[in-house]
Amino acid sequence: MAEQTTEEFKQFNVDLWKFDGHEGALIPLLQSAQDTYGYVPEKAIHYISHVTGIPAAEIYGVVTFYAQFRTKPLGKNIIRVCNGTACHVNGVKMLYNTINEELGLNYDETTDDGQFSLLSVACIGCCSLAPVITINGEVFGRLDAAKLRKILRDAQRRAKASEQ
Ligand code: FES
Repeated sequence: MAEQTTEEFKQFNVDLWKFDGHEGALIPLLQSAQDTYGYVPEKAIHYISHVTGIPAAEIYGVVTFYAQFRTKPLGKNIIRVCNGTACHVNGVKMLYNTINEELGLNYDETTDDGQFSLLSVACIGCCSLAPVITINGEVFGRLDAAKLRKILRDAQRRAKASEQ
């Protein structure tokens, strides 16, 4: 794992030092930083600024402008609510409300203990199972509030157990 992290970090460095200043080159560079850290931390912004000469405030402006970039780390477990049409009309609001009640999470937030992040996803092709969520890529469908509560509580139990 440590080796993999070193490899990923190496890739960010390679991308960083390849930066040639042309317009648009900053986006893939920020993507590389996000791939490395899981988000774009302040230290990466200052590092990029130092190497490229682009003011940190300008880079920060780009990071916050594009929804694809995160400025905070994601949780260990990623919950994605499907926002596709079938899921939308079959109760996406109920999904968000239930997740909020159980985990205190709104869209694009992470729990204080760093265990869960809530994101969305476009249609994942299981429309007959709508409404659908995924947790770490595993699909849960035909959800109602009670079923979702049970799934979330099981996920919390597993998360707690993995901490011990
Ligand atoms: S709309 Fe949600 S799986 Fe297709």
